[in-house]
Amino acid sequence: MRFSNDFLDELRMRLPLADVIGRKVKLVRKGRELSGLCPFHNEKTPSFTVAEDKGFYHCFGCGAHGDVIKFVMNTEGLVFPEAVERLAHQAGLQLPDFSPEDQEKAETRKNLYEVMATAAGWFQSQLKTSSGEAARAYAEGRGLDHQILEDFGIGFAPASRTALKEALSARKITESQMCDAGLLIKPEDGSPSYDRFRNRIMFPILDSHGRVIAFGGRAMDSSPAKYLNSPETPLFHKGRVLYHYLGARKAAFDSGQVIAVEGYMDVIALVMAGIREAVAPLGTALTEQQIALLWRLAPEPILCFDGDKAGVKAAHRAIERVLPDLRPGFSLRFALLPDGHDPDSLIAEGGRDAFDAVLASAKSLSEMLWLSLTESADISTPERRAGLEKKIFDTLRPVKDAKVLSFYQSEFGRRLKELFRGSPRKAAGRFNRDKNQFGRDKGRPLPSRPRPSGLLKTRLGRAKGSAPVVQHIEEILILTILNHPDLLNRHFEDFSVIGFSSAELDKVRSAIIGTFSGKEGLDRETLKTHLITNGFGAFYDRLMAQDTYRIVWSAWPDADITDAESGWIHTLNRLHHIQSLERERKKAEDALAEDFTDEGLSRLKAIQQAIQAAAGNEADVDGYGLSSEHRQLY
Ligand code: UTP
Ligand code: MN
Repeated sequence: MRFSNDFLDELRMRLPLADVIGRKVKLVRKGRELSGLCPFHNEKTPSFTVAEDKGFYHCFGCGAHGDVIKFVMNTEGLVFPEAVERLAHQAGLQLPDFSPEDQEKAETRKNLYEVMATAAGWFQSQLKTSSGEAARAYAEGRGLDHQILEDFGIGFAPASRTALKEALSARKITESQMCDAGLLIKPEDGSPSYDRFRNRIMFPILDSHGRVIAFGGRAMDSSPAKYLNSPETPLFHKGRVLYHYLGARKAAFDSGQVIAVEGYMDVIALVMAGIREAVAPLGTALTEQQIALLWRLAPEPILCFDGDKAGVKAAHRAIERVLPDLRPGFSLRFALLPDGHDPDSLIAEGGRDAFDAVLASAKSLSEMLWLSLTESADISTPERRAGLEKKIFDTLRPVKDAKVLSFYQSEFGRRLKELFRGSPRKAAGRFNRDKNQFGRDKGRPLPSRPRPSGLLKTRLGRAKGSAPVVQHIEEILILTILNHPDLLNRHFEDFSVIGFSSAELDKVRSAIIGTFSGKEGLDRETLKTHLITNGFGAFYDRLMAQDTYRIVWSAWPDADITDAESGWIHTLNRLHHIQSLERERKKAEDALAEDFTDEGLSRLKAIQQAIQAAAGNEADVDGYGLSSEHRQLY
């Protein structure tokens, strides 16, 4: 009995290797891989490794090696079809049966692949003929050079109703095959069938074996459908496919990341900018199966969305979809693009740097979710606070993995406590006013923001703009980690995604993370030594110098871990707050440059004032002074 590759792929996709192996072997995460004691030979130290993204296990001790099916064969003593049968049962997959009818279907599919390949070749050849001249000019205008056209197999469907039909007929492909492949449209009324794709630049869509299974066609004229995809066919189910999956795979394995963007041209722009690990869904919101595909490439795919309302909404839809399927080590990250840009246009304008900056500011799923839940929440009364708490825990309920759920619950529970503790009674009133001043972003209840006083405050107060303050805040975050490395046990994710304002701090962070990976209980001394040997000795000394941040007592070893933690969270909230104000300022400035109005000017002034306030002069601005409890933090 032979199972089709598609069926086996589906099986592997539905049953993450770590889950199946995890039932037999206790696995511990080690960087990108998992390791444990080898079930195939006797050992005391783990040399058995599971590479989830690559879909295989490997034992460095005895050389055992295989995929999920082989694992079940070898641990259960089953032969191949039995192992497949057992796994299919676990995955809730119907076993394909091999009736003559199915044989015929399989035969048809095989033929359809050939049809698609032939069509793809023909489209490519059309781009090179004289009828493809305008298309070549268009491609060139969009920056696609010869090599890219080849790499992506890009072609052209001429503006004719029958050109493809005739070309394929001449190659002995029947009309019904062309219809099955989605290449022809057959009108209900019995009139002759005609080419689906006309006057379009053709992007072939490949499956994970590199076979053409569909096309996306971009209109060269002002057709109402800018992009047209193949319909669902026996080969193509668009919710299960990502554009450029195969092309992204190796780069994703190498870099440990994958980036999902919206369109064909976005993927190509990223590849041209040197970011090969880019994929796109096909004109729909990400499906569950597409997320599973992303997770085969990297544990925390970055989804890029437009910075506008629709983009934020799409991000939230993705969160909703993925919550039930979160599992240890696997999540999503979210990068929001500047308003009015897609990755293609952003790279065209600002080059790779501009896009890297967007990636660097990607938010973790938990951060996105937290913001969306609390951003516009009114927490001015006990009932409203209880309401928010209920809403948050209800939102988390769909998370199926018990471990992930419990970490989310404790993390959000703690953040809620922080939020409520930090909300002076006036919070709601003030925050409503902010909302009027600043629009959607400012609907966020004020997290308790520690106010610098004394030495630090003097330093910050003199500062013009928020840049020096931001640097201080960032350094305090790092200093606190250096003195309380245990914080990383709970805030590793928050820490690793902070969008630091300088490359130096970024590097220090990487060095810290590098020491932490895979080690239990990182201590101060190890961390210190590691930083010094990595060339950050001067930085370390400066941070530790008595007069720099002494005043921030929660950053120092004598603070207990609870105080250090709440100080750290406060500081992080404050950084996020200033960062978001800075983004607002940038927007307001741009808007003003475009159209100078009194309204725009007063908006900008209000934002500048808010930045001043956040940067250290809250009390001078309008007396939302903080309680002594918060002042203690500094
Ligand atoms: P956009 O309209 O943002 O187009 O659609 P784009 O990718 O920037 O295209 P260019 O740069 O003008 O060539 C984003 C994606 O949504 C799908 C396509 O996958 C497209 O890449 N789409 C869009 C459709 O499927 N149909 C449409 O009519 C429009
Ligand atoms: Mn575009």
